[in-house]
Amino acid sequence: MSTTLHSPSSAFQSAARVSGRAAYDQLYRAAETAPESFWAQLARNQLHWFQPFQRVLDWQLPRAQWFPGGLINACYNCVDRHLSSWRRNKAALIWEGENFEQRILTYQELHRKVSKFANVLKSLGYRQGDRAIIYMPMTPEAAIAMLACARLGIIHSVVFAGFSSEALKTRMEDLEANLVITADAGRRRGREIMLKRNVDAALAEYAGVRHCIVYKHLGAGIEMHHQRDLWWDDLMFGMSEDCPAEPLDSEHPLYVLYTSGTTGKPKGVVHTTAGYLLQTHMTMQWVFDLREQDIFWCTADIGWVTGHSYLIYGPLSMGATTLLYEGAPDWPEPDRFWRLIEKYRVNIFYTSPTAIRSFIRQGDAWPQKHDLSSLRLLGSVGEPINPAAWEWYYHIIGGGRCPIVDTWWQTETGAILIAPMPGAVATKPGSATLPLPGIFPAIVDAKGQPVAEGQQGFLVMRQPWPSMFRTLWRDETRFREIYWDKIPGLYFTGDAARRDADGYYWLLGRVDDVINVSGHRLSTMEVESAMVRHAAVAEAAAVGRPHEIKGQGLVVFATLKGGQAASPELVDELRDWVGKEIGGFARPDEIRLVEALPKTRSGKIMRRLLREIVTTRSVSGDTTTLEDYAVLLKLSQQGKEEEELLAHEAQKEKV
Ligand code: WT7
Repeated sequence: MSTTLHSPSSAFQSAARVSGRAAYDQLYRAAETAPESFWAQLARNQLHWFQPFQRVLDWQLPRAQWFPGGLINACYNCVDRHLSSWRRNKAALIWEGENFEQRILTYQELHRKVSKFANVLKSLGYRQGDRAIIYMPMTPEAAIAMLACARLGIIHSVVFAGFSSEALKTRMEDLEANLVITADAGRRRGREIMLKRNVDAALAEYAGVRHCIVYKHLGAGIEMHHQRDLWWDDLMFGMSEDCPAEPLDSEHPLYVLYTSGTTGKPKGVVHTTAGYLLQTHMTMQWVFDLREQDIFWCTADIGWVTGHSYLIYGPLSMGATTLLYEGAPDWPEPDRFWRLIEKYRVNIFYTSPTAIRSFIRQGDAWPQKHDLSSLRLLGSVGEPINPAAWEWYYHIIGGGRCPIVDTWWQTETGAILIAPMPGAVATKPGSATLPLPGIFPAIVDAKGQPVAEGQQGFLVMRQPWPSMFRTLWRDETRFREIYWDKIPGLYFTGDAARRDADGYYWLLGRVDDVINVSGHRLSTMEVESAMVRHAAVAEAAAVGRPHEIKGQGLVVFATLKGGQAASPELVDELRDWVGKEIGGFARPDEIRLVEALPKTRSGKIMRRLLREIVTTRSVSGDTTTLEDYAVLLKLSQQGKEEEELLAHEAQKEKV
């Protein structure tokens, strides 16, 4: 635990929305003393309501209802309310395509497009409570589709464009989606990702969808299914621009976002309207210290929660200018991000430690070619930021002048919960620092008892917060089991953490079978299920191993069915197979074909042991329940041999 404190410069501090530590303490205490009136006041002052709420919170663990009785609309708050001021001609979205195309939508223009598209959806018969899958590249149309759904109370579920048709189908089925919004194709590192083709494959096995709306982005060759498939542009042509936002219940579901859990089946995290909006809106002020003139850039994809909260709902609800970049960070060259910052004079830049580590590898010359002096604040999300990455980010990108906000949160939490208010809380590299106002974390043991200062324990939340997810889509039982029954009475985050003498939180990674690859959550079970769907595989066990760039990499151990011979070709085939079944980002770094997997007497695969093997290449600890020591020894032996081989190879390269 490093204890180096970085205080904001006096210039930063004096201009900040929350200025000085005393101001943070005061806000935190106000929320602690009277949480309901704290949130109620913000909700009244910061959001637009069609009808005021009657109560602040109905809390029957684990069921929360925030601002019941209120009528509100997320799209109205993100778009319409800015039209009554000069902001109507402010850039809402700045989009840059991978090939340097550019589009800028003012709030007024965004309003027109969203209203028209909402009318399209209406004219096709969709309304409140319907469920739309959005499977799109990073284009303004993705944002328009999300907002149009929100306008009508159609629940959207964005599926990351890197997911396979199989993953897409699973999500459609679980959601019982009746509408799909997609594009012909998307672009990634100069390649075309054939989105519509994936949709076709998914829809061949799922019949619940009435329409598939296709935005022509690249003009890629695709097939249009008669009556089911409709072109975005044809539908928009001549459509009325008048489409009032529906007044919706505070608790109306805004979206479902699937995330990996500890089983093979992804979980549909349900977010509702008012509380979610309030907290994404407030964290734009508290954590990003947003100012009216800022250009805000969050590099996440809209397919992840970060994209929902900090590309769309948070920034737009604040009336900010949000930058949307379609492509890869290293396309056509490794300085694309720095070029974008220079070109658009970005003020606030929010990215992941994985991205930072890969930039470090490419060398300082790339950022140094560009004028990054517009930057005022840097953010980090997805995993703990290691000291080396922190230092590089601070000095090379931030020029030693920009505070770094390390933001801890989850798909389930909806908004940032633990992070510094940059003008008020001094940072320590690697720590997400202190909880935001209205957030009451604790670090406890398995029985829910607080652990001593500096000790490792489970990170939990003691009180509900407005942007918390409300349930898992059609799976209340799992919702209770995973998050609320583990340590009764407390929200179980699945993360381990420590708190130091200053009350700062240090996140230590997941405690479940979820691994974090490049800031994306991946369930080991999901990978294992994909593996055993392959005809040659009998059993599989997936584990994470530390990876220099990605944080964690994926290693899969597998046994083959009788008569199947192990070969390098089969290993390659299996890696591709997992990539196809789930999506390219889930392609394992390594697959080891073994004779047997180590198991306990009751037959459970000992993942801990496998993790140790791939991490340390040696095994220690309690193995008395092992059925077969020989298997274990063989596995660790294989690791050692590989290591020797690698050392040998490295030696050869040096010569
Ligand atoms: C998990 C949530 C929410 C944004 C992106 C990921 C890890 C997230 C941090 C951080 C240490 C972090 C946790 C968490 N995580 N941010 N600043 N420091 N760990 O969303 O896929 O829902 O994953 O990401 O392990 O539980 P997600």
